Amino acid sequence: MKVVVTGGAGYIGSHTVQCLRRRGMAVHVFDDLSTGHRAAVLDAEFSELDLRRRDAVAAAFAAVRPDAVIHFAAHCYVGESVVNPRKYFEDNLATTLNVLGAMVDTRCRRFVFSSTCATYGDPIRVPIPEDHPQHPVNPYGESKLFIERILHRYHEAYGLRFAALRYFNAAGADPDGRLGESHDPETHLIPLIIRAVLDPGFSLTVFGDDYPTPDGTCIRDYIHVTDLADAHVRALDCLAATDGSFALNLGTGHGYSVLEMIRRLEAIAGRPVQRTTGPRRAGDPPVLVAAADRAAALLGWQCTHSSIDDILATAWRWHQAPRF
Ligand SMILES: NC(=O)c1ccc[n+]([C@@H]2O[C@H](COP(=O)([O-])OP(=O)(O)OC[C@H]3O[C@@H](n4cnc5c(N)ncnc54)[C@H](O)[C@@H]3O)[C@@H](O)[C@H]2O)c1
Repeated sequence: MKVVVTGGAGYIGSHTVQCLRRRGMAVHVFDDLSTGHRAAVLDAEFSELDLRRRDAVAAAFAAVRPDAVIHFAAHCYVGESVVNPRKYFEDNLATTLNVLGAMVDTRCRRFVFSSTCATYGDPIRVPIPEDHPQHPVNPYGESKLFIERILHRYHEAYGLRFAALRYFNAAGADPDGRLGESHDPETHLIPLIIRAVLDPGFSLTVFGDDYPTPDGTCIRDYIHVTDLADAHVRALDCLAATDGSFALNLGTGHGYSVLEMIRRLEAIAGRPVQRTTGPRRAGDPPVLVAAADRAAALLGWQCTHSSIDDILATAWRWHQAPRF
């Protein structure tokens, strides 16, 4: 089985590539290194490729001829998408359409897609089930929802089968310490909390402490990146064994507030997190927690690394000695 992983030099992509390689699969990464790292690709084949270049994508697929594709490559900053929606609509859609077109042309019919809980928008039910209405509140989430809709059409017309995996908050680092999260700029909570311990010149801003939650700060569902990676490999197995396509939440079903995360990291680090409180950020729902049972039932998947202390401890270890 030969798998193309787009965005395989990025955070979740690189952990998934490692998981696929450990399963003995041939993996070819296509990545333009705009936010990813060549060193994160480890022992997979690698081509530096900007997926917005349609002819180059077609040629790369014709040369590699994969059996399946896992598509991580995207812009993924919610705030940036609000001020620059053009970048998100043009690039996230063009890259995906180029990949899907090349798949249709080379008769590759299995596609695993990085979708997001941001497609749900402000939830009217928590935990959020997969059949919850999808009304994204920012262009990033909207670009991902458009792609989910395109996938349904490509399934009907071309027989392309897909798994749309809606991640909640990816977090943590490879337990062996070879891979971790390294974004610039960083917008995710856990790396920022750790920076506020390690960098005396940096203070974490907690956005809002007056939400309708027990301690007033936002609650999120954190899922370990190693568990996410495992779910992608299982989704590929599932697409190989069945005729259908499916959309699944990937979360734990448990939520933690920003203040709980800070206190737990302080306990692990034995040092204080420098912080201030700022106003709420527009578009931040108070609580985002997955209904997580469908993925467990369909994929036979269980989170084995996603206790909140494992997530924080692996991230803490990585950020003290990042390899890239
Ligand atoms: N991190 C999260 O919590 C989270 C949550 C929900 C969904 N997602 C989705 O998961 C995917 C991966 O997220 P991540 O956190 O690993 O991001 P990341 O930025 O670390 O990885 C994205 C990768 O895609 C590559 N890329 C971007 N544009 C490209 C292009 N035009 N051509 C080729 N490569 C390109 C980047 O260089 C990078 O290696 C994204 O699609 C994101 O929307 C992430």
